[in-house]
Formats: sequence, C-alpha cells, structure tokens
Amino acid sequence: MFKIVTIPGDGIGSEVVASAVQVIKALEEKHGLEIEIEEHLFGGASYDVHGEMLTEETLEACKNCDAVLLGAVGGPKWENLPHEKKPEAALLRIRKELGLFANFRPAKVYDALVNASSLKSEILSGTDFMVIRELTGGIYFGQPRGYDEEKGWNTMVYEKYEVERIARLAFETAMKREKRLVSIDKANVLECSQFWRNIVHEVHKDFPEVELSDMYVDNAAMQVVRDPKQFDVIVTKNLFGDILSDISGMITGSLGMLPSASIGSKHALYEPIHGSAPDIAGRNKANPIATIASVAMMFEHSFSMQHIADDIYTAIEKTLESGLRTADIANPGDSVASTEEITDAITASLEVS
Ligand code: IPM
Ligand code: MN
Repeated sequence: MFKIVTIPGDGIGSEVVASAVQVIKALEEKHGLEIEIEEHLFGGASYDVHGEMLTEETLEACKNCDAVLLGAVGGPKWENLPHEKKPEAALLRIRKELGLFANFRPAKVYDALVNASSLKSEILSGTDFMVIRELTGGIYFGQPRGYDEEKGWNTMVYEKYEVERIARLAFETAMKREKRLVSIDKANVLECSQFWRNIVHEVHKDFPEVELSDMYVDNAAMQVVRDPKQFDVIVTKNLFGDILSDISGMITGSLGMLPSASIGSKHALYEPIHGSAPDIAGRNKANPIATIASVAMMFEHSFSMQHIADDIYTAIEKTLESGLRTADIANPGDSVASTEEITDAITASLEVS
C-alpha cells in the first residue's frame, strides 16, 4: 500500500493533477495495487484560505507519505506579495524541509514529436539525456542575501557534503545509463565552481567506469542546442540547472511534456516542469502529459516499479502516435485535443495493453 499526497496548487495545476489521478486509479485497478491519495492545499490556493502558501499541515502531510505529486503554483493574483510570501518562496521551503537535494529532469524526444520542436529533426531525433540539478543549496539558499536602496546581494556557497551527495547520485545514474557524465560549472570565474569541480573529481575515483568531463555553463547552453545527442547525464548546481533544464526541455518540443522528480534521502516530490499557465487555466486546454510522466517517475524512483513506469510511457507514446495533440504540441492544421481527451486516451491505452 502506497500513500500519495497530491497538491494541485494553482492555475492548470488542478486539471493536470486530476488527469494524473485518473491514470493512477487505472493503474491501481490494472495492477492490483492499493494506493491512498490525500489532497492538500499549497500556493495561492492555500494563501487565499489560510493566509500562507505552505501551512504546517500540508508540510506534515508531505513528510508522512511515500510520494508527493505537485501540480503548479503561482499566478498574477499573488505576484505582488512581498518576496518571502511569494509562491516561489514556499516552493523553496518545501524542497528544503523535505531535503529534496536532487532534481531529475529528463530531456527525451518522443519520436512522434520530433517536428514539434524549433530545432531540426535530424539534430533532435534520438536525444535522451538526464539533467540532475542540485536543488537545496547554492545561490538559491546562500546567506547573506538581501537588497537595499543602494545594492542587492546573494551568496553562492556549496558545502562539501552537498556536492558529494549529488555527485554520487549522478555517477550512480550514469552507471545505469550510458556511463557518461558531464559536470557543468563556471570554474574559470567562480571559486565556488572550482570547489564543485574538485569534489566531483574526487567522487569520480569511486566510479572509474564512468567517463567524466567538465563543461562551462555558457558552452553547455550552446552545446545543448547544437548537438543534444552528445549528452547522457548532466550534473550541475542549482542556478545553472534551473536555466539549463529549461533549454533542454524546450528542445523536446514543449515544457508541457516534461516531468521531474525531486529526491532526497527520505522524501520525494514529483511535478511537471511547466508552471501554472494562468492564461489557459480552467479551460481544459493544458497538456497533462508532463504530470502523467511525473507519475511514471514516481513508480520508478519511489515505488521501484519500473514495469509500471514503462507501462505509462508506452501509453503516452501510443497516444501521441495516434495523432492526439494539445495546443502546445500541435502543428498548424492539426485538430487540437483537450486535457480530458488526452487523459482518456492514455487511460484507455493503459487498460488495453
Ligand atoms: C523551477 C522553477 C523554480 C526554480 C521557481 C518557481 C522557484 O523555475 O522549478 O525550475 O527556480 O527552481
Ligand atoms: Mn525553472
């Protein structure tokens, strides 16, 4: 028996999480699983009721389950709150409190979608790499931080144990894939990055089979669009990973396709990479695939049920091959499917396979 806490959040979050729950229910039935789902408030939806984005109650629930599934947070309604009350701050807090130090963001091109990207299909086809972003350290959390009338400041700092544990996880991931790891930093300018590089090379001694190379972040941004197939696993700091994972995501066609897993030693949280998309919220237009694929990552990482994860990926692929597309991945002239239509097709495909 597994317990999943869902936090739909804001905007399209509730629609895509509803899609994911429909898929989870279908899987439960098909594979004879017992899954308990408990929903909690987070983000603007929580602020409007409780005056805070993240309540102790939601945080406790997230700590007392096997996995958390998050939709999206934020929207124009809450944009003008002070910095520490913004949805982004609540997201950082939940990551820190749950100790989610590793963020996995796969960049995989579905064959059916090679034409949805702005890049040429011959450059893209066959692209399949994993960005591992450090998630609870670096400049996102460093002290001191602040701004006044005259200046603004943040601190980029990494402790040895923080680099060691993310590097270790990255090498372990590479061992399960093609055994190639690229560590991305800015060691030509930043001392903190030279430190990062030194530690990654230390950890490498325990994984001699993995081919390790270093790349500066500016070059990496270029390489990801020039020749994405060169990558197998990327490991990088919090800020660089934030930027690079958006670039990597976009080459695959749409942010609406991309799942993510944030993992710690005790807890795990899964969420689509896209935001709350207030412009299309409540209109049955959102692409639910990123959230459904996040459920696949949950079965893989939290429940160690790779066969069920594969089952979900296959259902997604079949649905795309059948030609169904939400607006974000449709080509001009395609008829556009709704969130519910895509979800029903994926669920139906799971049931027959
Ligand atoms: C992401 C987002 C967040 C981040 C924001 C919303 C705090 O951009 O998950 O990539 O910068 O980490
Ligand atoms: Mn981001």
